[in-house]
Amino acid sequence: MNCREDLNWPLMRNNIQQTDVDALVNFLKFEVPILTQASQVEAFEQEWSRWLGVEHSVFVNSGSSANLLTITALRETYGTGEIIVPTLTWVSDIASVIQCGFKPVFVDIARRTLGMDTGQVLKKITRQTKAVFLTHVLGYNALDADFLAELEDRGVALLEDVCESYGATFRGQKLGTFGLMANFSFYYAHHMSTIEGGMICTNEATLYETLRMLRSHGMAREAKSGDLRNSYSSRHPDLNPDFIFAYPGYNLRSTEINAVIGRAQLKRLDRNNKLRTENLRFFLDHLDGNKYQTDFAVEGSCNYALTLVVKEANPAFCERVMSTLRGLGVEFRRGMSGGGNQLRQPYAKRIFGATEFERYPAVNRVHFYGFYIGNYPGLEKEKISKLCKALNALPMSEGADG
Ligand SMILES: Cc1ncc(COP(=O)(O)O)c(C=O)c1O
Repeated sequence: MNCREDLNWPLMRNNIQQTDVDALVNFLKFEVPILTQASQVEAFEQEWSRWLGVEHSVFVNSGSSANLLTITALRETYGTGEIIVPTLTWVSDIASVIQCGFKPVFVDIARRTLGMDTGQVLKKITRQTKAVFLTHVLGYNALDADFLAELEDRGVALLEDVCESYGATFRGQKLGTFGLMANFSFYYAHHMSTIEGGMICTNEATLYETLRMLRSHGMAREAKSGDLRNSYSSRHPDLNPDFIFAYPGYNLRSTEINAVIGRAQLKRLDRNNKLRTENLRFFLDHLDGNKYQTDFAVEGSCNYALTLVVKEANPAFCERVMSTLRGLGVEFRRGMSGGGNQLRQPYAKRIFGATEFERYPAVNRVHFYGFYIGNYPGLEKEKISKLCKALNALPMSEGADG
């Protein structure tokens, strides 16, 4: 096919729509709208909790803030120690662990889920392990039954980063409902957007209160429970109850504007997720399984990206794939989630050593030979079909036929 045809295919399109803008304009028409965190944030948190199936949600200004609050709440509740983390994830999943004084213990990924190799995780649990901070990568569930059972047996907390995978399920249950806390991102490129935004979800009432306080400077008055607020003021009679800082917290609050958009977006999330899931299946069904990985763990998956992994470690073929994508106007990211192996990043090399990244072959594989491509609800099957044809036609060796 003609590689010069422009498919005009960005990583994300129309994630904020006129209905969201209308909802916002209507909100702003109130005589004196409150714009800082107030009733819209509260309503969004409740609606999100209902959608996910958890007791409590805390809305913050990004997915990275959600990561930071989760790890801070873990430290304030259980103390520091080791946290087992993936090599393939977003930088803030590792940064939050380091910044909060934990030792990150890395594991490689599993080929079909792109998530942590759960067998390796179990082998790395020690008496110092405070949690496993798992990322569900690009819509694929990374949990399995043995893993969950063993974590429970050994009393190790699971934290789920669901920023790239909301709506995905394991055995019919939504990801983000299995662990002690779960994080979501509403950045523009994700399943839904509040422009910037994030959510932390938990069924644990005490953690919920801690998260609320940490989000707002560590202030005790942010606790929902009157009893908890009163216990702080009675134990600190020398302090103004409005200014009791229970924790060394942050200001990671979002605004009413972001919450209004989130509430409008949530109404079409399931519909959009269904379209995205169909797109991914269609893409994998039409790719040549001899050249590209097509056996991803799609059961229960829900992706905002199409995952493309070249099967053979063949740099020349990989270059042909990239130039085809560029030629067709298809935006892509090499290295999958967060740019591939985190241990190759300058910050990680400084902390963990310049060659530590070499010990993780599976993530190194997708670091060079893995890509993601946008999967937005309005993406036409015809475009997916044209892309698959162009990719399938590429010769494995120079001069050979596709
Ligand atoms: C797995 C994962 N976690 C966390 C984040 C951070 O979210 P945000 O961009 O909202 O800070 C991202 C970012 O895209 C991500 O992919």
